[in-house]
Amino acid sequence: MSRLQCLTMATALILLQALSSVSSTILSRADRITRLPGQPRVGFQQYSGYVTIDDKKQRALFYYLAEAETKPISKPLVLWLNGGPGCSSLGVGAFSENGPFRPKGSVLVRNLHSWNQEANMLYLETPVGVGFSYATESSSYEGVNDKITAKDNLVFLQKWFLKFPQYLNRSLFITGESYAGHYVPQLAQLMIQYNKKHNLFNLKGIAIGNPVMEFATDFNSRAEYFWSHGLISDPTYKMFTSYCNYSRYVSEYYRGSVSSMCTKVMSQVSIETSRFVNKYDVTLDVCIPSVLSQSKVVNPQPQQVGETVDVCVEDETVNYLNRRDVQKALHARLVGTRKWAVCSNVLDYEVLDVEVPTINIVGSLVKAGVPVLVYSGDQDSVIPLTGSRTLVKRLAEELGLRTTVPYRVWFAGQQVGGWTQVYGNTLAFATVRGAAHEVPFSQPARALVLFKAFLGGRPLPEDF
Ligand SMILES: *[C@@H]1O[C@H](CO)[C@@H](O)[C@H](O)[C@H]1NC(C)=O
Ligand SMILES: *[C@@H]1O[C@H](CO)[C@@H](O)[C@H](O)[C@H]1NC(C)=O
Repeated sequence: MSRLQCLTMATALILLQALSSVSSTILSRADRITRLPGQPRVGFQQYSGYVTIDDKKQRALFYYLAEAETKPISKPLVLWLNGGPGCSSLGVGAFSENGPFRPKGSVLVRNLHSWNQEANMLYLETPVGVGFSYATESSSYEGVNDKITAKDNLVFLQKWFLKFPQYLNRSLFITGESYAGHYVPQLAQLMIQYNKKHNLFNLKGIAIGNPVMEFATDFNSRAEYFWSHGLISDPTYKMFTSYCNYSRYVSEYYRGSVSSMCTKVMSQVSIETSRFVNKYDVTLDVCIPSVLSQSKVVNPQPQQVGETVDVCVEDETVNYLNRRDVQKALHARLVGTRKWAVCSNVLDYEVLDVEVPTINIVGSLVKAGVPVLVYSGDQDSVIPLTGSRTLVKRLAEELGLRTTVPYRVWFAGQQVGGWTQVYGNTLAFATVRGAAHEVPFSQPARALVLFKAFLGGRPLPEDF
């Protein structure tokens, strides 16, 4: 976006802010959801629709807003992003993790631990080509990368505020998981840069779950995780840490030339870990809905030996979001594709961006005074807690932050919800006990306790 456009937009936003009492509901009215098919009666409002992110209106991002269950005006705005890259925040985040409803057969059931108890939850399908988000020219799906995604997300928010000026000055948090360990810090960084000229985003913090922040550290913690959880043998652990480690394998895989050494090591690793163990939660049985495998980049699958049994026969979210009446209620369109998919089939993302570290960006956010929470479902072997913990600790040392909350347990109800450590006033790490890669899916009650403390800027409960 040119400087002029930025200025025009800032001016428009200031005007809108002034008029917000008059206009607040007008622009967003068309996006209001009357009722989702099969939805139980609720007391909060929902909105969904498109925001075009280029002047020619050829690229549009789809969002879903679930306003807070009570007193939405006094609650913050929280943006949630899923990873992949290429997976849907609507299908994974909203309908399987922390949104108000989950599809069950032909109806929606309430999620009793929905994050809209604490905040107005905004889910964004990003970049274009994901879910209901689209580009009219299919060439727009080629070569999409972190840089484009972050910029599009920024433009989305600017324009979304034009529709929803009542949210303009609200406390804003950005949250997400997995590959959103790239999206979230990168977007926050752009917001801070933008704020230097036009103070627009009231950014109050970011939280990232099982995030990819530094390729080698994150991916190479997998070997030890497998080994310590009994998924691989001693000799295989040795091979997986010396002959070919996981970052080397992924790096070769995405360059289209896997060495014979890596092929050999990975084949042994796959045989021992078994495809009937869920890598996103090593204690779960394998049939987790496909919505929960944000597998595009963070967990590429080596060629499988043996059976090709698909134990997941049903996928409630895929069925639900592909219903015509549901799409109509959501104001969603399928453009250039026949089916809504959990992870995009059309997007051609720059997969090597996975190697670009974002931990340094996280550091710059902390330095700018933005509170950061890195949390980790402790049953995930894809982005294990050990890598995240190492990265956060290393960052704290680099920034000269002292421990303000020493490593200790935290409570959800009368049980241990996980462990936490806080550095300075702004950088926190927490594990969630018994949680998968998708923390709010597998430990909804604990995730809600974590979310509430994060929004309140408080350490996690020390006792019960
Ligand atoms: C926005 O919120 C801040 C406090 O977070 C307040 O100081 C400021 O006056 C508000 N601005 C407007 C235009 O409401
Ligand atoms: C992983 O393998 C690469 C390439 O062989 C090597 O440079 C790197 O040091 C290894 N990392 C770990 C943690 O073993």
